[in-house]
Formats: sequence, structure tokens, C-alpha cells
Amino acid sequence: MSKIAIAVHGGAGEDSEFIRKYKKEYEEGIERALEAGYKILKENGSAVDAVETAVKALEDNPLFNAGRGSALNADGEVEMCASIMDGKNLNSGAVAIVKNVKNPVSLSKAIMLNTNYRYLGAGGALDYAKKINIALKPDAYFITEHQYDSFAKKRKEEFLDSKEIALSEINKKYHGTVGAVALDREGNLAAATSTGGTSNCKVGRIGDSSVIGAGCYANNRACAVSATGDGEFIVKSVLASSIRCAMQYKKLNVQEACEFVVSDENGDEKGDIGVIALDPEGNVGIVFNCKRMHRGYRMEGRKPFVKIYE
Ligand code: GLY
Repeated sequence: MSKIAIAVHGGAGEDSEFIRKYKKEYEEGIERALEAGYKILKENGSAVDAVETAVKALEDNPLFNAGRGSALNADGEVEMCASIMDGKNLNSGAVAIVKNVKNPVSLSKAIMLNTNYRYLGAGGALDYAKKINIALKPDAYFITEHQYDSFAKKRKEEFLDSKEIALSEINKKYHGTVGAVALDREGNLAAATSTGGTSNCKVGRIGDSSVIGAGCYANNRACAVSATGDGEFIVKSVLASSIRCAMQYKKLNVQEACEFVVSDENGDEKGDIGVIALDPEGNVGIVFNCKRMHRGYRMEGRKPFVKIYE
């Protein structure tokens, strides 16, 4: 019987007035997600079910940029991406730019378990969701006042006369992607990641969150990883799988591997990056190169840890 452990994140990046104002609510949201996932593990549930449950709790929470509360693309619409991976058999499921699905992580799990595919996108993903009766919601359910304001602000900035001001503001991204990694009693690891993407992004943009090996990876022989931050940098560095390689081939421990990949290998990158990882003994690795990362973990016999800033 293995020790059980779970870690979750709710995004990493720039700080903002909004985050400071709702710090307590964000921390409570992280804690609730941890508890929901931990309960599954405690009752001998699987790591796959635990990460799905934790991510669902964050997708349902309008403060986080996934599910309800997703960022709006350049057309003012919500397109979501998610993925899940089972470290026992390396199976995975993912969805990209899907609309109206209440919990994209659950659709990813259904694809992993019940289809011969790994990855469904856009209309095809929605058709499959309808076919298996996964909960759907109207467009308005996903759009929060906060995300609408961010979208409107970014749109306005694009029309500013001074390109310098516009660009510096556009480069400030308030990431809120969510993710979870878990270790169950059987010693199996799993990871899941879900996002609403970035505010005012090009229609059809796909970041890292649904890309296995970039924003999500799990392998019982090394670790489970969920990433957050600038998707384009995370894809470029194949971040989650690189952490696994650093553990397997460089023999680093989980924290060292996260530090090596984020700070050494990609230290020159201008993008925001944050990762959570778990190894088969339940040790946690957490690294972020930006002002804040909403994060927490819970291990057997220890109180939950929840933090946003350093
Ligand atoms: N990390 C989420 C995204 O870039 O879409």
C-alpha cells in the first residue's frame, strides 16, 4: 500500500488587484479542490479519479480560468482545453477549443477510457460530449464579469495609439489555468490540466494545457506533472515530459527536476512558467518563475498546504 498525496494549482503569472482582493476566496477554492481530490484517494479511489475531481472543483469555481470563468477569445467566446493522463499505462485523453462542456477534464477522461482516440477538438469534441450525455451549459454560464472586463480591457489596449503601452500591457497575462497531480494507494500517479486559454487570444488558439508532455504528463516510473503559464513557452520546452526525463535520466529528485527544467533549461525564457509535480513516494515538486502561483498540496498525516505568493 502506497502513501497517498495530491497537489493542485490554479495558475501562475502576474499579480493583480483582483487576485489580491479575492486572495481568501482563491485560497479557499484551492483548499476545496485539494479536499475533494484527497477524499477520493482516502476512500481508495484512483489517482485518475482524484485529479479529475480536483480539477472539476476548480473548473466549477468562477474565480479560475477553466470551465466557468474561462478567458474570452478575440470573438468574445469561450474555447476550453483540457487533458488527463494515467501514469500506470500512459493512456491519456484531451480536448481542445471545446465549447459548452461544463467540465472539459471529464470529457478528456471519457475520451481516454472509452474511445480509441487520444485527442478530440472543437465540434468533434462537442459532438462526442453530446453523445455520452456529459453536462453542457449555455455560453452565458462560462462568462464571468471579471473575464469580460479583462477581455474588454485588452481589446481597448489594441487600439491605443502608443504601441509601447499597448504591447507592455498585452504581454501582462493573468493566467489562471488549473491542474492536479495525485498518487493513489496502489502507487499509481495521474495528472490533469484544464484552461480557458488567454484573454483576447486568436480564435482557435491551443496552448499547452491539452498537449500531453507539455502541460500534462504522468508516468509511474518517474512523476506526474501539471504546468501553467505561457502556453507557447511550455509547448516549446515540452515542459512536463522534460521534468520526467530529468528525473529518469539525470537522476534528479522531483523538486530538483522541476528547478532544473524551469530555472536552468528555460531560465532565459521570457514567459511565465509554473509547475506542480509528484513522485511515486508522494514527494512534491513546485517551481514558478513569476510573481505568484495559486497552489496547494495534501499528504497523508499532514495538514493541507495552500499558498499564492512566495
Ligand atoms: N497555460 C494555458 C495556456 O497558455 O493556454
